Amino acid sequence: MQTTISKLLEQRFRVVFDRLGFAALSPVALKESNRPEFGDYQVNGVMGVAKDLQVNPRELAAKVIAAIDIKDVVSKLEVAGPGFINITLSNEYLGQMLTEKLLQVAAEKLQKVVIDYSSPNLAKEMHAGHLRSTIIGDALVRLYEYLGHTVIRRNHVGDWGTQFGMLVAYLLETKRDTENDLALELSDLEDFYRKAKVRFDEDEQFAKVARDCVVKLQSGDEKILNLWRQFVTVSLTHCQKIYDRLHTKLTSEDAVGESAYNGLLSEIVNDLVTKKIAVDSDGAKCVFFTPEELKISEEAPFIIQKQDGAYLYSTTDIAAVYDRIKNLHADHLIYVIDARQALHLKQLFATVKKAGISLPETIMEHVAFGTMLGEDNKPFKTRSGGTIKLMALIDEAVLRATVIVRERNPAWPADKINKLAEILGVAAMKYADLSKNRASDYVFNFDQMLAFDGNTAPYMLYAYVRISSIFKKTNLAINDYLNKKIVITEVAERNLALHLAKFSDRLLQAAEENYPHYICAYIYDLAVLFMRFYEACPIIKSATQVEHDSRLALAALTAKVLKMSLDLLGIEVVEQM
Ligand code: ARG
Repeated sequence: MQTTISKLLEQRFRVVFDRLGFAALSPVALKESNRPEFGDYQVNGVMGVAKDLQVNPRELAAKVIAAIDIKDVVSKLEVAGPGFINITLSNEYLGQMLTEKLLQVAAEKLQKVVIDYSSPNLAKEMHAGHLRSTIIGDALVRLYEYLGHTVIRRNHVGDWGTQFGMLVAYLLETKRDTENDLALELSDLEDFYRKAKVRFDEDEQFAKVARDCVVKLQSGDEKILNLWRQFVTVSLTHCQKIYDRLHTKLTSEDAVGESAYNGLLSEIVNDLVTKKIAVDSDGAKCVFFTPEELKISEEAPFIIQKQDGAYLYSTTDIAAVYDRIKNLHADHLIYVIDARQALHLKQLFATVKKAGISLPETIMEHVAFGTMLGEDNKPFKTRSGGTIKLMALIDEAVLRATVIVRERNPAWPADKINKLAEILGVAAMKYADLSKNRASDYVFNFDQMLAFDGNTAPYMLYAYVRISSIFKKTNLAINDYLNKKIVITEVAERNLALHLAKFSDRLLQAAEENYPHYICAYIYDLAVLFMRFYEACPIIKSATQVEHDSRLALAALTAKVLKMSLDLLGIEVVEQM
């Protein structure tokens, strides 16, 4: 394992800052430079020090340059502007650090991380709104695992509460003699839910039975529980089909739904009441916060038990934190949930902190994401205003991909076309989402996500195909070239090499901010820089064997980094397109 470039540079400058007695005055403040004419990196920390010491910042910067031991890494250090230090890495150093080790990246402090994601309500079928949590969460799972953390996936499915009383009551009412009848009845969950809801709204007698079922369910009535279990199993099977099709890591073991915490709820509420963290308010139990505590504008109580004694979404989430910390020993809790639930998560985090359920060192993060919009810039809906089933959305992406693949490869047999279209359609949907800053809303657009140019899945997959075909055509193996000596002479070689060298820094940043789009932006730039290099620098017709091997090494590393990055995004590469 080698340290990342930014850590190495930071460290070298920190030594000098320490030695000159600046360390307490300012951090090194190292940044990647965004203008190549200013070098590759920049140190901005000297200016703050100069201000504190009331000395000339440019002179101070020159002093730092004179004192630093860094010749093995850089070819040029320069004072610039009001006192920046511009850093240019040496080509020798870049060439040396680009080996297979580039791919081994590890976080400094390894943690046990619980990632709560996907988490649909099982009463209905998964819809378009569940796409973002599912794929952003899965990308984070892969990224954290890659960096060496222990990751526990939690699919906090909604499988409990009043809706399930209604569904079970409807199951009771419909005549079913065999398992097959049940399967048939539940083959369209959406339809089943609708019919149950109509009965519930129309017939007071049915509504009474439904409410009765909720009570029986919560008190552990075996017959009712059994029906509920059957319903949940069918619904989870449907989810699993989506998870598999989306090429996610979620399995049935990860589905630990709201019902799993049922036994903890009364204890949790009693504990919070005893500690006077929850108080009685009109018969309900609430946790009150001042707006400052939550950094919000109005007071918003967190209700954990209703007047009638029922527990809520909030109570279950408190219990889940308890379980994740006390039983799973997590250091870090991540919730990949729609931004519209921000208040709920603020209240949750503040409550468990107050109650000592989380530890002072526990990291809790709401990885919030924006809304998926239709072409009309309004939340994504069907024409009649209904929700769009996620399975139908995937089908459509794959169908459109099929048309494209067939057009490009008319001679291919159907099964080959279909196989590639499945990968391409799913990749396009995932990449379109992951490549955007998750915090913003975005317009879901099939044409854009399936385009072969721009920062899209087809472009990235095609870039990979092109690079690996360089090796195939010449009967060479990518793996044989990963550690060949790299000698940088051309600008296009250097630009590509510098970008490759930033791989580990970029992955760590993506994890730090829980931003998968950093990875997408990185590989898009990588592919563009590779194409420029490929046009400017002949590989197979290189002048010398050293040049030939060096250029193939750059190509091999690019292919590896590309494949690894796509894998971290949960996207399969293909060998032909
Ligand atoms: N089932 C919830 C919903 O559909 C999302 C649950 C998210 N996870 C959590 N621990 N609250 O809105």
